[in-house]
Amino acid sequence: MSKPWNQTRVTAALGIEYPIVQGPLGGLSSQRLTAAVSNFGGLGSFGAHGLEPQAIADKIAEIRLLTSKPFAMNLWVSMEDDGAVASDSAAFQRALSHLAPHIASVGGTEPTFSSYKPLRFEDQARVLLDAKVPVFSFIYGIPPKEILDETRKQNIITIGTATTPDEALSLEQAGVNLVVASGFEAGGHRGSFLRSSEDSLTGTISLVPQTVDAVKIPVIAAGGITDARSIAAAFALGAEGVQMGTVFLACEESGAHPLHREAILSGKAGHTSLTRGFTGRLARGIHNELLQTLNRPGTEILPYPLQRALMRNLAMPAQQAGKAELLALWAGQSANLARCPSVDELLTLLVSGAAERINLLM
Ligand SMILES: Cc1cc2nc3c(=O)[nH]c(=O)nc-3n(C[C@H](O)[C@H](O)[C@H](O)COP(=O)(O)O)c2cc1C
Repeated sequence: MSKPWNQTRVTAALGIEYPIVQGPLGGLSSQRLTAAVSNFGGLGSFGAHGLEPQAIADKIAEIRLLTSKPFAMNLWVSMEDDGAVASDSAAFQRALSHLAPHIASVGGTEPTFSSYKPLRFEDQARVLLDAKVPVFSFIYGIPPKEILDETRKQNIITIGTATTPDEALSLEQAGVNLVVASGFEAGGHRGSFLRSSEDSLTGTISLVPQTVDAVKIPVIAAGGITDARSIAAAFALGAEGVQMGTVFLACEESGAHPLHREAILSGKAGHTSLTRGFTGRLARGIHNELLQTLNRPGTEILPYPLQRALMRNLAMPAQQAGKAELLALWAGQSANLARCPSVDELLTLLVSGAAERINLLM
């Protein structure tokens, strides 16, 4: 008799019932969503890369009030791009010039240049270690050895993110426990760290089996997975778990603005594109007026994270004005398949459908 589909090395390592990870949604996570997924028996994650250390400690404490099950806190190893520190007011004005008409159209105030205050990955990671979070997941690189050594001492499970089999191998060699293989269908950022993101655009169906062949640690598939069909497909490719982002973003419990959730659920989210315009790093969102402006040749994009800060000056007034065309509508290529009646109903459907389909494969 073969094992039930949900008992994999991923569930064993994480101490969870179902190998379904709610992907971290940096900036749009919520404690409620993280806890709801963990309470069901999956792994809820909280994307904390934009937060000061004290705020991260507060979020961990709040999540712990909502669940006693394992959950993941997620950080970005690389926190700024070349040129961020030196970027000057002239570059700011050039980047702003493309956005200023949009900001004015929704009644926003034009921002002025101010120098930026970096957040350090090491300071954020310290909070995760001191709080002994159950799972520490990360993207955009490999944490320094001392940090990984300490996770092992504290029995904190680590999950790295790879966009190529080579990245997965380097994560394994550094002693990371599990790896997310993130295909280019995925919503949000491409977390590439060995080659440029533009040069690491492998789709999930190519990436997952090559990653499974390249490493011995368990692989979690991400990118385009929204329903039982795609979970079964990921398992057929050798994945032992899945990570889903866009579908959870569409849930009422997520931190996404209602206009954003409506856009994903509208049935008109079939056209997504990659852009550096949302933050300075390559990311995927629904192709709307804003994305078109940002991708126009000649539009100046500031280095990460300065572009992200600049874009906030449009996001706030655009939300207030109800103008989804001017919002960064993060989403993956399968957004049109996303449904979320509630987190519990979604997960109930996913696990029963996956059991049925994966049993047919075995
Ligand atoms: C709005 C948004 C924010 C995200 N933020 C992060 C993040 O901070 N860290 C991370 O590792 N992955 C992040 N991701 C990736 C997701 O966790 C997940 O891997 C991805 O969405 C899976 O692809 P899918 O959108 O097709 O389901 C983000 C995705 C979205 C849509």
